[in-house]
Amino acid sequence: MTQEQWQAVDDYISALFGPDDAALASALQDSAAAGLPAIAITPPFGRLLHVLARTVGARRILEIGTLGGYSAIWLARALPPDGRLITLEFDPMHAEIAQTNIARAGLADRVEVRVGRAVDSLAALAEEEAEPFDLIFIDADKPSYPAYLHWSLRHARPGALIIADNVVRQGRVADAADDDANVRGVRQFNAALAAEPRLTATILQTVNSKGYDGVAIAVVNSK
Ligand code: SAH
Ligand code: DHB
Ligand code: MG
Repeated sequence: MTQEQWQAVDDYISALFGPDDAALASALQDSAAAGLPAIAITPPFGRLLHVLARTVGARRILEIGTLGGYSAIWLARALPPDGRLITLEFDPMHAEIAQTNIARAGLADRVEVRVGRAVDSLAALAEEEAEPFDLIFIDADKPSYPAYLHWSLRHARPGALIIADNVVRQGRVADAADDDANVRGVRQFNAALAAEPRLTATILQTVNSKGYDGVAIAVVNSK
């Protein structure tokens, strides 16, 4: 199997469900035009996030790692009109592009982009003593994944989903000798996820237009 086949099948699946609408397509186009890296999730992955958010009846969603707002649009579209998505982004330029893309998608009223290092934004969020989240999507810097999981466990309701992108890293996560900081970050995250009695979780390998990687999906257990 080759990247070419993964791309072809991704195109097939995307076409099957209808290509991205104007708001999603221009979110990617304008992100590319502004020089943002092409590391947004794929359309079928966006659809998966949307389906999962609807499944848990998500009213409060947290995203860590906004980029141009592509995944945020998929997630926010699963919210009821009075629902809320908070998305955290380090790079002010990414956040600005995302804000524009989210507004064009008609979602500015329910999405809040917070600029800054996610660890700082999370600390501030904890101070606000807001309601717990129904879904948390982790997709920012990989070395911080364990810290993001730790925070998520304290701020997700029972039955909430914690989802993390890029936890397989082209299979490198299974090579114990690979000590790249990103690989070590996700390996530590995966181990913590598996060992956590408050969660029931799995990891799926994925191949798609973005290559070979994987996604972790966990549900917070009831006490
Ligand atoms: N979820 C997006 C892709 C996110 S890419 C989508 O699928 O559309 C990862 C993003 O995380 C980048 O925009 C990067 O700037 C941001 N990021 C990296 N380190 C961060 C940090 N410490 N805090 C907050 N955001 C960070
Ligand atoms: C990278 C980050 C991502 O979130 C992703 O989906 C793919 C690649 C990266 O930093 O290389
Ligand atoms: Mg990612």
